[in-house]
Amino acid sequence: MTGKCVWFEGIPFPSLDYSPELLREVQESFLVKDKDVLLLTFPKSGTNWLIETVCLIYSKGDPKWVQSEPIWDRSPWVETKHGYELLKEKEGPRLISSHLPIQLFPKSFFKSKAKMIYLIRNPRDVLVSGYFFWRSAKFVKRPQSLEQYFEWFVEGNVVFGSWFDHARGWMSMRDKENFLILSYEEMKWDMRSTVEKICQFLGKKLEPEELNSVLKNSSFQAMKENSMSNYSLLKGQYFEENGQLLRKGVTGDWRNYFTVAQAETFDKLFQEKMADLPQDLFLWK
Ligand code: A3P
Repeated sequence: MTGKCVWFEGIPFPSLDYSPELLREVQESFLVKDKDVLLLTFPKSGTNWLIETVCLIYSKGDPKWVQSEPIWDRSPWVETKHGYELLKEKEGPRLISSHLPIQLFPKSFFKSKAKMIYLIRNPRDVLVSGYFFWRSAKFVKRPQSLEQYFEWFVEGNVVFGSWFDHARGWMSMRDKENFLILSYEEMKWDMRSTVEKICQFLGKKLEPEELNSVLKNSSFQAMKENSMSNYSLLKGQYFEENGQLLRKGVTGDWRNYFTVAQAETFDKLFQEKMADLPQDLFLWK
């Protein structure tokens, strides 16, 4: 996958909209403000679902905003050229998305009171989701088979680097009061409680009908039909026609793709890399 990538500090980035110079500037000079809310993920963890949900919480369930402005402009990616320029111009409290590993994140964040949500997903499902997604992308070296992508993923040879390093890095923040860890699995299993948890963390209050509207408009079906959120606007330039962001939207799909040997390799690796972290962080287990 990294054949077409841009590299910065040993981490590969997609070839479009990223550059080492900008990544350095983002890290050194981007000013995170106390009122900003940051949405952090490893790619394919449900990032866009989280963004859509938080946007809907901000609009009190009114879908007008999510249906009229592209998702990457509502919560721009700080590490991309497009997002960085947009964020510099934005007045007031901002929503900011990022896939950056902790060591490359804007330094100003660590001295700020800005709130961050880190969304984690079973890395096996992240792997399968990534395989199908990157297969249709025009800005990375595409995987030719799941077997090949499996190798790349376990070696950390994929965009934004090793899932294990990414998750470990950000989880070191877990005891900070401006940091909330969520999982894709809890969103799937109990979205109502998850939205309440996000509201509490962000100091937002929703009436029952507003909460219902957040749930309805952030559902898989609603997002799949929303051209401002389903990446259909990027087809042609960034993705092939058959590419889709909202593929299945389920937990445990890896079971349909991993061989017994791959499942064992992955278990062993997970054990090696993550055994010393509190295991209740990994809800899928
Ligand atoms: P699958 O490929 O397993 O279907 P990201 O936004 O980080 O790129 O993650 C994409 C994954 O999140 C895809 O997983 C996609 O289907 C899933 N997803 C996006 N919106 C969702 C929603 N509203 N409900 C459930 N899953 C969603």
